[in-house]
Amino acid sequence: MHHFIYGNGVLHAEDVALPRIADEVGTPFYCYSTATLTRHYRVFASALAGLDATVCFAIKANSNIAVIRTLVELGAGCDVVSGGELQIALKAGASPEKIVFSGVGKTEAEIRLALACGVGQINVESEAELETLSRIATGMGKTARIALRVNPDVEAGTHDKISTGRKEDKFGVDWTLAPALYRKARALPGIDPSGVAVHIGSQITSLAPFEAAFTRVRDLVVMLRADGFDIRHLDLGGGLGVPYDHSSNVVPPSPEEYGAMVKRTVGDIGCKFTFEPGRVIVGNAGIMVSRVISIKETPSRRFVIVDAAMNDLVRPAMYGARHEILAVQEAPTSAVFEPADVVGPVCETTDCFAKAYPLPSLKEGDLVAFLTTGAYGAVMASGYNARPLVPEAMVSGSKFAVVRRRPSFAEMMALEQMPPWIA
Ligand code: LLP
Repeated sequence: MHHFIYGNGVLHAEDVALPRIADEVGTPFYCYSTATLTRHYRVFASALAGLDATVCFAIKANSNIAVIRTLVELGAGCDVVSGGELQIALKAGASPEKIVFSGVGKTEAEIRLALACGVGQINVESEAELETLSRIATGMGKTARIALRVNPDVEAGTHDKISTGRKEDKFGVDWTLAPALYRKARALPGIDPSGVAVHIGSQITSLAPFEAAFTRVRDLVVMLRADGFDIRHLDLGGGLGVPYDHSSNVVPPSPEEYGAMVKRTVGDIGCKFTFEPGRVIVGNAGIMVSRVISIKETPSRRFVIVDAAMNDLVRPAMYGARHEILAVQEAPTSAVFEPADVVGPVCETTDCFAKAYPLPSLKEGDLVAFLTTGAYGAVMASGYNARPLVPEAMVSGSKFAVVRRRPSFAEMMALEQMPPWIA
């Protein structure tokens, strides 16, 4: 459910007609709905009612500070994977004890920063990292509360590039080797090994892989407790999928179904729970709006060339992802939808948002919206082809604001300088 719907023949974000924002901000731009964000956070959190749970929004999915602030005000913590994300979470007002620092490669500087600001939990992904963390924490006179991220060797049934819990993936500690590493952690100074973390991938559309992973985690907790460990925290990661492609019949489980599965699998284990959802909170709370530059008919194709490109939304080029595309001016019921390839201006054939996508007749200057782009949209944007980073707007009821503006060309070039040997 989301709040991007037609009203008076024009696509709106809540009560704001998208052409209004386009006129002020220019295109392309992302637009987020406060009502959708709020709804998704509440639905997810209430699906976990009865558990002692903290929802730490995975800000890799959307690191816009206004988006994070909106969620923090609802009670969210943050899952961060870099020093930059940690700074952003703090700037958005997240309380440090509700911040989880995850990630397969944390630098010493990042670990220092995390310890200095007192994050609630650091998820450790290897023996080497455990040793580094112990050394740094001891030097700072701190004790790091850690969870070991285990790799449960589970096939998540999602895109190969976003599966993270198989034994050949770079993430986590092989679950069979985890007990030995906990024993090592217990012997190290500056470490409180009181948690287990797991995350098996993203855009997961069935409960079975989660259930398999959580069952392994449960077995591990039982084993660790028998070995004298006081395991008090379980971090079950993120990964719940969202519907992208309404022509497909894949329907991801609802948060309620996910919550019920969590409760029946590990609900009675006597731990505090952390969840790290990203996509399911913010995915369809955002859209990207773009303007048609021109229509190009060739003997075999109809190309709709828009002013957004793969640098603004890379998911189709990178993962073959399909995002629903709507004409912002609603097509009359009598309109004929004909297949078009929707492409951007970047000089790569993969700069294509959709092939043979059924669209009504469009002309130069028309607006189109790419739906369900709130997660892994703007955060993955780049300046490829010297295109300015795409701006972001946010709507709340009948109000909207630019929450990240488009940089000027001067700003884009300001970080560069000539070496002294070039005149
Ligand atoms: N926790 C950890 C440790 C993660 O690695 C991720 C995502 C999440 C939580 C949040 O997962 P979510 O609930 O959003 O599925 N760029 C890709 C997705 C990469 C996901 C990486 N990890 C895409 O556009 O599909």
